[in-house]
Amino acid sequence: MSEADGTDGDRSQEPPTILLTGFPGFLGSALIERLLDRGDGPIACLIQPKYRALAERRAASLAGSGSDRIQLFEGDITRPGLGLDDGLSALESVTELYHLAAIYDLAVDLEPAEAVNVRGTEHVLDAADDLDIDRFQYVSTCYVSGRYDGVFTEDHLREGQTFNNHYEETKYRAEVAVQERMADGLPATIYRPAIVVGDSETGETGKYDGPYYLIRNILSQSSACSITTGLPGGADSELNVVPRDFVVDAIAHLSAREDAVGEVYQLCDPAPLSIPDFVDAIGEATGHRVVSLPSTKPIAKRLMGALAARGDPAEPATLDYLDHPTRYACPNARRALAGTGIECPPFESYVDELVAFVREHPDIGDEAMT
Ligand SMILES: NC(=O)c1ccc[n+]([C@@H]2O[C@H](COP(=O)([O-])OP(=O)(O)OC[C@H]3O[C@@H](n4cnc5c(N)ncnc54)[C@H](OP(=O)(O)O)[C@@H]3O)[C@@H](O)[C@H]2O)c1
Repeated sequence: MSEADGTDGDRSQEPPTILLTGFPGFLGSALIERLLDRGDGPIACLIQPKYRALAERRAASLAGSGSDRIQLFEGDITRPGLGLDDGLSALESVTELYHLAAIYDLAVDLEPAEAVNVRGTEHVLDAADDLDIDRFQYVSTCYVSGRYDGVFTEDHLREGQTFNNHYEETKYRAEVAVQERMADGLPATIYRPAIVVGDSETGETGKYDGPYYLIRNILSQSSACSITTGLPGGADSELNVVPRDFVVDAIAHLSAREDAVGEVYQLCDPAPLSIPDFVDAIGEATGHRVVSLPSTKPIAKRLMGALAARGDPAEPATLDYLDHPTRYACPNARRALAGTGIECPPFESYVDELVAFVREHPDIGDEAMT
């Protein structure tokens, strides 16, 4: 264990009341800032040993050097007892658990995705049980929907859907496990963000995945003519994108409410753009004339695979979202957030900030953990 400044653990410090997995990740880092702002904690963060240096830097910048508000515990959710050296004994004071750790990679193989997303979540649920916590806050994803054909709401889960990739399928199985424990009495709240991009005010992000492949690909081409791929059915599909500040503001607000226990909240854009309108919005923000060339998915995937192989910003697995048949509705989240001022801004209102950030920070990769 160590304090935020990375010194050896001090058992005399205030015991943690929150355990959070998924630090120093993209959403976990931003969420912790909100939790500290409202005076919660101390927060025990389960971190992988490989991220110790980054976690120490981030914890010190969030909580202040030497602060005990963020306490780092090396572990691994794929192992029973979360792989903690001393088991859960140092966490007995914890009353609330935020579970965000996952492999978030659309191209992940089945085995590691099962180990982390499914069995890892089961281990975290077991830890919640052992610690007898009062609140379990679980970050799922809208894409537990898989390729559900129609409008997917917070009431849907087991719909016989097929999946675009192992990430979606294993996050689905993880949420099934969480909902089963809820049915057995676990006081939990489930948050399902859509595709999360950077901050809507500053454009800041820690990784360029998902829609950033499209932004960077367009930016890498001539502004007079930038080519993208259009798939059959794409005009009828929507890309549901949300900025990180909306997601963490919503989780921070809802997680503090008693009436959120037992609920599922889809944190999505209630009025997302169609794929052609989304591409047009990026074209306008970049100042590029974008031409969409019709293609089939197998050909487009081969082409994108070749681009990725030569180091261009491309991920073939993202193409499945250009003809995705599912639309997302979030009546539960909208009802709960009404009057709070927390709402998803339209993509067109912040796409300029996203593009400006990418232009100013060309060296960020598609991995969050740098
Ligand atoms: N970002 C999005 O667009 C989005 C949208 C919807 C839902 N979500 C969900 O939100 C949560 C957080 O996502 P994020 O974007 O913040 O992802 P992220 O930046 O990759 O953070 C997740 C963290 O969990 C860690 N982790 C992986 N395996 C672990 C293990 N065995 N033990 C402990 N930690 C482990 C990851 O480390 P590695 O680097 O080693 O993998 C990473 O540090 C995830 O559950 C994700 O499914 C994200």
